[in-house]
Amino acid sequence: MRSLRKGLSLASLLTGVATLGAVLVAAPAAHAADTPLRDLAAAQGKVIGTAVTGSKLTGTYGDIAGSQFSSLTPGNAMKWGSVEPTRGGFDWTEADQIVAFAQAHDQQVRGHTLVWHNQNPSWLTNGSWTSAQLGSLLQNHISTEVGRYKGKIAAWDVVNEPFNEDGTYRSTLWYDGLGADYIADALTWAHAADPAAKLYINDYNVEGVNAKSTALYNLVKSLKQQGVPIDGVGLQAHLILGQVPSTLRENIQRFADLGVDVAITELDIRMALPADSTKLAQQAADFTSVVAACAAVTRCVNVTVWGFTDSDSWVPGTFPGYGAATPYDENYSPKPAYYGIAEALGGSTTPPPTNGACTAAYSVTSQWNTAFTGQVKITCSGASLSSWKVSWTYGAGQQITQAWNATCTQSGSAVSCANASYNGSVADGGSVTFGFNASWSGSNPVPTVTLS
Ligand code: G3I
Repeated sequence: MRSLRKGLSLASLLTGVATLGAVLVAAPAAHAADTPLRDLAAAQGKVIGTAVTGSKLTGTYGDIAGSQFSSLTPGNAMKWGSVEPTRGGFDWTEADQIVAFAQAHDQQVRGHTLVWHNQNPSWLTNGSWTSAQLGSLLQNHISTEVGRYKGKIAAWDVVNEPFNEDGTYRSTLWYDGLGADYIADALTWAHAADPAAKLYINDYNVEGVNAKSTALYNLVKSLKQQGVPIDGVGLQAHLILGQVPSTLRENIQRFADLGVDVAITELDIRMALPADSTKLAQQAADFTSVVAACAAVTRCVNVTVWGFTDSDSWVPGTFPGYGAATPYDENYSPKPAYYGIAEALGGSTTPPPTNGACTAAYSVTSQWNTAFTGQVKITCSGASLSSWKVSWTYGAGQQITQAWNATCTQSGSAVSCANASYNGSVADGGSVTFGFNASWSGSNPVPTVTLS
């Protein structure tokens, strides 16, 4: 029989966050009792946002997106490749869905993004266009998309990632075909289609004072002098644990002093996996310092996280071995980072008491041609177990061939592993690990595991 002992401590919450494929037992439902981030932000005159995936806006994901945030950014749904996958063949389904959800939850929408070198449809990137044709395609795209959502989008990331790291213009379809004027033209066309929308240039690695952010600064200054409609700059802020630029606030302030708004548009802070309590505490401090830097500057109007849950983050797919970059874990429990954001917005700095939990974390420890070795680590914090069973479903035909420190059975894709006679007890603060060999082919996705 399983027994749960209850304990109340910050340390138990911090160590109770698992990394891969884990499910919490007696999971803390902390977000429900707190003042929502959007209310804390509103009290500071700020907007707090998240990038979202439209198809996920139901259940717990939808509840958190709707209750905690006052702004949504479609993570992919408004990009050119999403809305016009074939020439003249438009698909607004996901973009419309996100806009409708935002309206139903009294939220702003940040439109993302109109002019970029990525995620363009292949008919566009593979085409051979004269400069005039390219300009006309871009103008039509901007007029169509901005026009469709006229009055419904608070701010557009009109131009995304125009610079190289050294501050020169990035060679792209747009720059190569149209020259640097494509930026002013895009802003002008967007303004014509929705004069009320705030128009931004958005980039990464422009959070601190450096060559790239100075190029952006000089561009914005020049656009303002020419009377081009530019309202703001977006600092994406895809950051690395412990590396918040020391000049972030100074940089935000210099843009504000130019007479434009600033938004932190894609904040996440990645760490080497697995997460542990030390890293999560550092991450909380990092989130606090980013949000505080924005809160300190009146014209910094919005902080948006690039996905609020580790289950909906681009990081693990792009930086293998890195992740846990968002304020909620994969099971939608708020992490210390959540409280780091709340703290910077004047909210509670103390996570609420937890009932304690035991978690199971699945990981692949080595993998070769057709086989791999995996392990599951069961960890208890503020709770304990006298026996355990861990279950999961393989999604890609993996097959267990051997297990140790547990008795594993597999029926079809369903795997169930029970404790051996000698390792059913997991003490409060303790852990037990079992391992297995298995076969795979094609892909080897990490399953979600259930501890019972
Ligand atoms: O939709 C397809 C799906 O059908 C297919 O099965 C799957 C297989 O890989 O791919 C899916 O498309 C993926 C798409 O995200 C939607 O999930 C693409 O492969 C993947 O490349 C794409 O990644 C996006 C990335 O931009 C592309 O550059 C991320 O989700 C998105 O979060 C990320 O966002 C960018 C911002 O727009 C600009 N700043 C940087 C930021 C992070 O890269």
